[in-house]
Amino acid sequence: MRVFAISDLHVDFPENMAWLRSLSAQDYVGDTLLVAGDVCHDFGKLEEALRRLREKFAGVFFVPGNHELWLTGSDCPDSLEKFDRTLDLCRSLGVEIGSKKVGEGAAAVWVVPLFAWYVKPEEGADSLFLPNNGDRGDLSGWGDERFVRWPSGAGAPRAADCFLERNLPHLKRAYDAPVISFSHFLPRPELMFHLEAFGTSLPPRVRFARGGFNFSRVAGTRALDEQIRTIGSRVHIHGHQHRNRWRTIEGILYVSHCLGYGRERAVGLIRNLDNGPKLVWERGALPAGQTDSY
Ligand SMILES: [Fe+2]
Repeated sequence: MRVFAISDLHVDFPENMAWLRSLSAQDYVGDTLLVAGDVCHDFGKLEEALRRLREKFAGVFFVPGNHELWLTGSDCPDSLEKFDRTLDLCRSLGVEIGSKKVGEGAAAVWVVPLFAWYVKPEEGADSLFLPNNGDRGDLSGWGDERFVRWPSGAGAPRAADCFLERNLPHLKRAYDAPVISFSHFLPRPELMFHLEAFGTSLPPRVRFARGGFNFSRVAGTRALDEQIRTIGSRVHIHGHQHRNRWRTIEGILYVSHCLGYGRERAVGLIRNLDNGPKLVWERGALPAGQTDSY
């Protein structure tokens, strides 16, 4: 039994759905796949993607990303309701959304899905926000601002807390085998940077993208890393940024392996994609020969 990871499949793009359909129907029949969010906002396409992956892998685990919570074309009143309906869809398809031990004996591993949302800088110190000289605080081009809606009302919690608190049962249990956790959102600021740009301290000036958009405003939360460390993860998979990573920080291997958008692959923003999902665990251990490299 091997464990593979993929994220940000974005199958609303036909070439991405074609990539998914083209994955081997034979190569992964004994394996587990972790899908770290952002498959599609459209329920029909999300269902097709998850169903096809279930046919190719022995087991599929999923956490929703921000795109699953977009209300575009949905009759859900708010994004929390869309989240719950997404989990219902997973249950109906036999896609795992809770923690579960997979594999036998010494090869067994616990897989723990961790739900989350990002914390904006004005929402708390657990934001991954880093100042950027070109940052005008403008999120008008960020789709979540238009397509995500939270239930309102006095005393409503931060969006991130609605999801992080759902992970509490995972934090209270004992694990009798190595733990692999996964989330859509980023748990640490270092992961926003390529290894070459990452030394003992963060770059003094953070440049993320065009137009003054500063991704770190919507990247994730440090609270997620606290949960990852509480459960003793050996490996944590994340998605969301559309940059691939394989990096050990303070004893935990962090991996991002996303499909992303064709335009990002074309210009090399998404690298090291190989030909399919990323192997992250094999015969009770990390895959041999892979070192921190990006
Ligand atoms: Fe995302």
